[in-house]
Amino acid sequence: MKKQLIAGNWKMNGSLASNEALLKELLAGLNSPVCQIAVCVPAVYLMQCQKQLAGSAIYVGAQDVSAHESGAFTGENSVAMLKDIGVRYAIVGHSERRQYHGETDAVVAVKVQHALAAGITPIVCVGETLQEREAGKTEEVVKRQLAAVIHLNGHCISEIVVAYEPVWAIGTSKTASPEQAQAVHALLRAQLQAATSHADRIQIVYGGSMNAANAAQLLAQADIDGGLVGGASLKAPDFLTIIAAAQ
Ligand code: 13P
Repeated sequence: MKKQLIAGNWKMNGSLASNEALLKELLAGLNSPVCQIAVCVPAVYLMQCQKQLAGSAIYVGAQDVSAHESGAFTGENSVAMLKDIGVRYAIVGHSERRQYHGETDAVVAVKVQHALAAGITPIVCVGETLQEREAGKTEEVVKRQLAAVIHLNGHCISEIVVAYEPVWAIGTSKTASPEQAQAVHALLRAQLQAATSHADRIQIVYGGSMNAANAAQLLAQADIDGGLVGGASLKAPDFLTIIAAAQ
C-alpha cells in the first residue's frame, strides 16, 4: 500500500541552534513511523539538516529549485547542486512563490521537469485563493495549475507528489474541512488518472493550517495521502503528533 508523506515546510524560519534542537527533538520522539517524513528547510541550512538527519527516517527537502541548469542566475540553486548534497524532495510552485515571485504555471512546470531529471521528487503545489473559491473557480484553477505540469512531464508524472494547498488556508488557521479537501483531492486524482495508469501511486498531500488537532481527520480521507505542514512543523510535539496520525 502507498505510504503517506508528512513533509514540514519550515519556510523562512530557523537558525543553526534552533534547527539542531528541533531535529534532535524530532529524532528522539519518532516512534517507528509508518509514513514517509521530510523537512523542507531554507537552502542555507540544507547541509546542516542533511548531516544531522543522515541515516534517519527523515528526508531533507528544498523549498524551491531553479528553472535553469547553471550559469548567470544570481541567488538561485540548481537541481544538480541540490542533488549533490543529497536533497530528496523539493517544493515547487508554492503559492508564496507564485504570489511574491511571479512564478507562472509554465515556470512551475519547467522546475518540475528539472527536479525529475535530477532524481529529486518535486512536491508540486496547487491551490485556489479565497476570491477564486468564492467565485466557484476552485476546480478550474487547480486543474489549470496541474495541467501545465502534466503537459510538460507526461511520461514521468507518476514520480511527482502533488500538494493541494488552498491559499486561504495557509497560515490563517482556517483549515479546509476534510470534505472540502477530499473533494479537491478527488478531482486532482481523476485528472492524474487521465494522464497515467499509475495515478493511484501518486501521493496527493494536503497543506493549509494542518495541525496536531485536525491532522487525523484530514489524513483519514480516501484521497489525502499526507500533509505539507507549515507552522506546526516548527514545533516538534505537534509535528510528531501529525506523523503519528499518518498511515
Ligand atoms: P501552514 O501550515 O502554516 O498553514 O502552511 C502551510 C503551507 O504553506 C505549507 O507549505
